[in-house]
Amino acid sequence: MVDYARLFSRNLPRAVATPEGASAQVKYIFSITNAVPEVIDASEYLSAIRAGLDADGAASLAGYPPPGGHVGLRELIAGRLASNRGFNAAPEDVFIADGAGGAITILLDAFINPGDPVLVEEFTYMGSLRMMLERGAEPIHVPSDDDGMLPDAVADILQSLDNDGRRAKFIWTIPVFQNPLGYTMPAGRRNALLDVAERFEVPILENESYADFRIDGEPLPPALSGLRDNADVMYVSSFTKLLGCGLRVGFGVLPPAVTAALPRANAENLPRRNASHLATMLVYEYMRDHAAEHIEAVRRALQVRRDAMLEALSANFPAFCEWTEPHGGMMIFVRLPEGADTWATLAKATTRDVKYNPGGMFRADRGRNNHFRLTYSHNTPDEIREGIGRLAELFREEGYFEG
Ligand SMILES: Cc1ncc(COP(=O)(O)O)c(C=O)c1O
Repeated sequence: MVDYARLFSRNLPRAVATPEGASAQVKYIFSITNAVPEVIDASEYLSAIRAGLDADGAASLAGYPPPGGHVGLRELIAGRLASNRGFNAAPEDVFIADGAGGAITILLDAFINPGDPVLVEEFTYMGSLRMMLERGAEPIHVPSDDDGMLPDAVADILQSLDNDGRRAKFIWTIPVFQNPLGYTMPAGRRNALLDVAERFEVPILENESYADFRIDGEPLPPALSGLRDNADVMYVSSFTKLLGCGLRVGFGVLPPAVTAALPRANAENLPRRNASHLATMLVYEYMRDHAAEHIEAVRRALQVRRDAMLEALSANFPAFCEWTEPHGGMMIFVRLPEGADTWATLAKATTRDVKYNPGGMFRADRGRNNHFRLTYSHNTPDEIREGIGRLAELFREEGYFEG
């Protein structure tokens, strides 16, 4: 028998702690940022695929996608970034990847050695955090307020790394409807962060996966990537939350010097981490004709679901628990009294058909589990009300509502 343990490469992902119950199948799924299921129109998706095959010729699928991915989609992305995000990217600097996650994988593989520090928000998206931990990176959580990372704290951390002869590989931020905290970083804070990044010569990784998910409130400030010419910002985003996570289509926009160094993003005729060309055809044709109406349908669906979840929280959770009231995105972050352990309670919640994400999943140290994240994109408003009621019942039994 082969002893595989002796053969695995040094790149084998390191084990990362995950709470029991995280992969249970349940009805009330408040743990995942799925696209809103009802907004996906199968007949429109089929028409978009047909239009793509008619335009490119079905035989175009015989070869590999072009370097960087579907040319029309890259142009469409550049156009949308310019009009919606104040960011003038050249289509040549856009590359299509298998989700934002695919783009992030390429960048982590390109930049991260074990032990490398990466500055991240106080709580940060569990998927990229996990990828960092699997590669042996050292995510450092930066104290933040309701506007995002505190620039002085960023500077202090970068200075103390510098004093030790170390350098962070990225300042990693989700500045729009942050996952999981829900805030949007205002323009002033963006400029302050850019100043610090420039001073210490550390690139910013800007993940705008939720830029199309404004429900109400103030218009979004321009992307960090658009605020200064030739800023050292790498941008990633995705169509998965909008059109379907199963499509696996996202993208990145990189400084030309980075693109040039990434053979997997730009080499000719090699299998790469590009998305499926068929899926990108669908996204291109569909977004070209339906972007505005689709985004509005998602907005309306999320508004009703967010409001249902906020009402259910008010009705079932004591007022001394605190939760965010986001103006966009698809998640609410809740704080229970100190001592509550949502990591430990997750498995019990799944026996009541409910799932959420404990706060520790958004932290490198797996701590701060009196917090947890709820998402509202997947279930209907009635299901949201039922599921939150069940969760409140469990937390009450666990003594988490005793204040
Ligand atoms: C902030 C953020 N980035 C990236 C992703 C992953 O996106 P994709 O499905 O496009 O890989 C998610 C999914 O939850 C996310 O919340």
